[in-house]
Amino acid sequence: MEHYFTAKPSSKSAPRELTAVLRGETLRFRTDAGVFSRERIDPGTRLLAESFELKPDATVLDLGCGYGPLGIVAARLAPRGRVYLVEINERAAALARENLRLNGITNAEVRVGDGFAPVADLTFDLILMNPPLRAGKRVVYPLIEEAFRHLRRGGSLYLVARTRQGAGSLREHLRSVFGNGEDVERGGGYRVLRAVRE
Ligand SMILES: C[S@@+](CC[C@H](N)C(=O)[O-])C[C@H]1O[C@@H](n2cnc3c(N)ncnc32)[C@H](O)[C@@H]1O
Repeated sequence: MEHYFTAKPSSKSAPRELTAVLRGETLRFRTDAGVFSRERIDPGTRLLAESFELKPDATVLDLGCGYGPLGIVAARLAPRGRVYLVEINERAAALARENLRLNGITNAEVRVGDGFAPVADLTFDLILMNPPLRAGKRVVYPLIEEAFRHLRRGGSLYLVARTRQGAGSLREHLRSVFGNGEDVERGGGYRVLRAVRE
């Protein structure tokens, strides 16, 4: 079975375009077969997109960006900042690049690769993640530990997870790594969690 986090999806391409209103802005997204949530903005992604806070000059990482919704919203909200979108799935990364252009975003870039490797030399004010929980804790927990190392002091990691798909144990892991971690939003069976590097 092919997962959406495969580096090179083999499923036949079937492009489509979505329109979504996020943070009051109408945005366009090209999607395709073999990428996460191609038919609509995932409800967890939407809840996270509506709830994170950032300064207009923030340096942001959207880790596992898919076709780019979180990074694109962040880039709109931080016009004097810079957003890095990282994705392992090459088809999704190509769509994210196209979606930056489609939405007129110039303060963001997409980098293809595994986890923090493509941004190894960078630190961030904000890291956003709708983590690949289907890939398991062995993939997701190390990403949380690396997120801590890549945050500046006062910087935040925001995650979204299904309440029934381990949001509680994710929060415990946040607390063990950051010394803090709280729910900042809930709805539709999802929770948005935030941890701050103090
Ligand atoms: C749940 S999806 C979220 C996608 C997008 N952020 C959204 O909200 O629509 C998780 C994404 O992480 C990507 N991913 C999984 N493991 C990764 C890794 N090790 N490095 C980078 N991206 C990864 C997957 O390919 C997938 O696109």
